[in-house]
Amino acid sequence: MSTSALKEVPTKGPDHISPQWKQSARPIQKFGTVIRSLPIGIDERARTEVCEQLNLMLADTSSLRDLYKKSHWQVGGPTFYQLHLLFDKHFGEQAELVDQLGERIQTLGGVSVAMAHDIAELTRIARPPRDREEVPVQISRLLEAHELIIKNARALAKKAQDLGDDATNDLLVSDVVRTNELQVWFLSEHLVEMPLVHAK
Ligand SMILES: [Fe+2]
Repeated sequence: MSTSALKEVPTKGPDHISPQWKQSARPIQKFGTVIRSLPIGIDERARTEVCEQLNLMLADTSSLRDLYKKSHWQVGGPTFYQLHLLFDKHFGEQAELVDQLGERIQTLGGVSVAMAHDIAELTRIARPPRDREEVPVQISRLLEAHELIIKNARALAKKAQDLGDDATNDLLVSDVVRTNELQVWFLSEHLVEMPLVHAK
C-alpha cells in the first residue's frame, strides 16, 4: 500500500478521542444524611445517629494520623531514629483505622468526611502549631489526642450496641480502642525517667 492511499482513509478528527473530563453535576447524597432503606436490619434513625458520631471519630482519627506524620518528620534528638520509626508505624495503623471508619459510615448508608478542610472543622483534637516542638511535648500532644479518642470510642461503642449496631460496636472496641490503648503504652514509656547506665 502506498503512503498516498493511507492519506485517503477518512477519520473523525482528534476531538472524537479526547477524554470528556471537564464534567460536573449536583452531588448524589448530602453530607449528614443516610440512605433511607438498607437491608441490614438497622433503622434510619439509628444509622443517622451512629454515622454522625462516627464522622467525628473519623475526623479525630484523621487528625491523629496526621499528627503522627508531623511528629515523624519533625522529631529530633538522641532518640530520633527510634521515634522516627515508631511514629511512622503508628501513622500507618491510624491510617488503617481511618479507612475502616470511613467504610463503616458508607456501609451504614452515610457519607464519610474525607478532606482536610472538613476534618479541620469537625475534629475535637486541639490544633498543634506548625513549628517544631521538643520530644516530650510531641509525645504529650499525641497522648492527649489518644485519650480523647479512646474515651469517645468507648462511649460510642456503648451507644452503638444500645441501638442494635453490633458491628460498629465491634469496630470501635476491637480495633479503635485496642489500637489506641496499645499505642498509648508505647508512647508513655518514653516519658518515664529511667537510668541508662547507673542504677539509682
Ligand atoms: Fe517517612
